Amino acid sequence: MSTLIDGKAAAARVLAEVQAEVGQLQAQGVEPALAVVLVGDDPASHVYVRNKVLRAGEVGIRSLEYRLPAEASAEAVLEVVAGLNADAAVHGILVQLPLPGHIDEVRVLQAIDPAKDVDGFHSENVGGLSQGRPVLTPCTPAGCMRLLRDTLGDLSGKHAVVVGRSNIVGKPMAALLLAANCSVTVLHSRSIKPEKLCGQADIVIAAVGRPRMIGADWIKPGAVVIDVGINRIDENGRSRLVGDVDFDAVLPVASAITPVPGGVGPMTIALLMRNTVLAARQQTGQALQETR
Ligand code: GUN
Repeated sequence: MSTLIDGKAAAARVLAEVQAEVGQLQAQGVEPALAVVLVGDDPASHVYVRNKVLRAGEVGIRSLEYRLPAEASAEAVLEVVAGLNADAAVHGILVQLPLPGHIDEVRVLQAIDPAKDVDGFHSENVGGLSQGRPVLTPCTPAGCMRLLRDTLGDLSGKHAVVVGRSNIVGKPMAALLLAANCSVTVLHSRSIKPEKLCGQADIVIAAVGRPRMIGADWIKPGAVVIDVGINRIDENGRSRLVGDVDFDAVLPVASAITPVPGGVGPMTIALLMRNTVLAARQQTGQALQETR
């Protein structure tokens, strides 16, 4: 029988650590602050941003919200980012993705001061991660690593398969697993017989954005399965969230598995709070600690 990996409980542990660190910073006269920039009216993005702001308040991080209309120009977004870069009272900057189609996302992400890049999407941080330097790392993969370490302890020598190669999850996930001494395989839409390759994995990270794509035939008995997917589907006339993994089919095969919701999702926000505290520490002259 498989263990259910409780992302809510793990996130609560991270948030308790963050809250204590916020208290230490406040005692030194530093008030950690996170700015969130939201462009347009994508409903899912609004929900994510609201949750981030709520969670920040709970751990004592000051949050600032900047909302721009969907038709805002790239220059208008860049102006907001430049103002936040220059503001010493702001330690973390997050531009919620996706941006409206007419705005070049890379141009905006590259404009964020790498020291305030709590998403870890700036090329300076992406490069640092691949070189093994202590940088701000993307929140979802960092959250997955924490769940894996809580479940398995040392990951050395494990064969990890990452399904999906996005810049936000798949690629940084592969880099973190490699840094943890895993043998890493990345699967994508052009992979041949992906279920065969995935079936060799000790660890499976599913991050493709396709509801229930990964069935029991993809999973080696005893593998640990982390499901990053959050897909809204209509089933029997009801709207519900499901992952990229066919949870009911995989549950009896895996040794441990994350549910959706309640798995990776809460960890992403918790690690964002952690990155904000790390950024605040670094900007006030304290060394950036390993987050892996
Ligand atoms: N949209 C979906 N996931 C993310 C994320 O991790 N960071 C940002 N900024 N936008 C997102």
